[in-house]
Amino acid sequence: MTHNPVFAIMDRAQALAASGADVISLAVGEPDAPTAEFVVAAAVRAARDPRNHHYGQAAGLRGLRETVAGRLARQTGLGWPADDVHITLGAKHALFLALHAVIGAGEAVIVTKPGWPGHRAAVEATNGQVRYAATDAADGHRVTASALDAARAPDVRAVIIANPGNPTGTAYGAGAWAEIAAWAARRDVWLITDDVYSSFVYDKPYVPALRAAPQLQERCIIIDSVSKAYGMTGWRVGWLAGPASVVDAATKMTASTVTHRSWCCITDSVMHHQSKLTRPFRARRIAHRHAGGKGRADGHVACDPRHP
Ligand SMILES: Cc1ncc(COP(=O)(O)O)c(C=O)c1O
Repeated sequence: MTHNPVFAIMDRAQALAASGADVISLAVGEPDAPTAEFVVAAAVRAARDPRNHHYGQAAGLRGLRETVAGRLARQTGLGWPADDVHITLGAKHALFLALHAVIGAGEAVIVTKPGWPGHRAAVEATNGQVRYAATDAADGHRVTASALDAARAPDVRAVIIANPGNPTGTAYGAGAWAEIAAWAARRDVWLITDDVYSSFVYDKPYVPALRAAPQLQERCIIIDSVSKAYGMTGWRVGWLAGPASVVDAATKMTASTVTHRSWCCITDSVMHHQSKLTRPFRARRIAHRHAGGKGRADGHVACDPRHP
């Protein structure tokens, strides 16, 4: 298993900054705004409530699971019981648990190229083999069924797709999901969608995979967190949502490792608020375009696919 390169870059940037260098770190992607004041106030209240001084439940606090289930039902248009949601320590933990639930040692997982290195790291952390599906700038870096087929080997059990993608910004629409869903069903592969940037789709509605392809519900796992949308990357609260077998496997794993209550106790109230944090990013994006920024006309970022 290799180190997640993002942390090496972050450590280097911090070391340079400590030595007095003027550094702009492009290592981790996170909002530069602090967490909203109402969240911080809720955390202070929660810390004073003795009920929160005790163990939580292995699958996560019931209230938060219900809130997440409600959000997923609204986003996907599908029924979503709270039992099919597992609260995690952020999206990375959710990815690890999801992969742990669906792949065996040595089995392969397809990730997109270019893509977020954390996907590769999560596959390696679960002793899986990484296969890359190349994407093309000319096609907005959307992964296609033929690219998935080119990456596929008999031992492929899952594909991870971020929607929108990092670093490409690629947002998937109904047509793209229909193609991917048909491919996943044909090849009997799990679809894991990483939706942490769903609040950052600007020019069109955000389309979750299951809104476009509800028939995939039994082979789809949704990964998400409050990290990016609410400016809470350091708080570590996320979730996975999927079939009962996946949630059950994740719950067993969590129960014997990091049973946690921590910030889950406040996130329930947070999630009832629409995130306002993404507004400044929309304004910056427009300003960047007006200033002649190098983004593509369709809002995607062109990336060199030679660098995964
Ligand atoms: C696509 C993607 N998924 C997940 C994460 C990590 O999310 P979290 O902080 O909730 O673990 C990141 C962080 O950069 C990311 O870019």
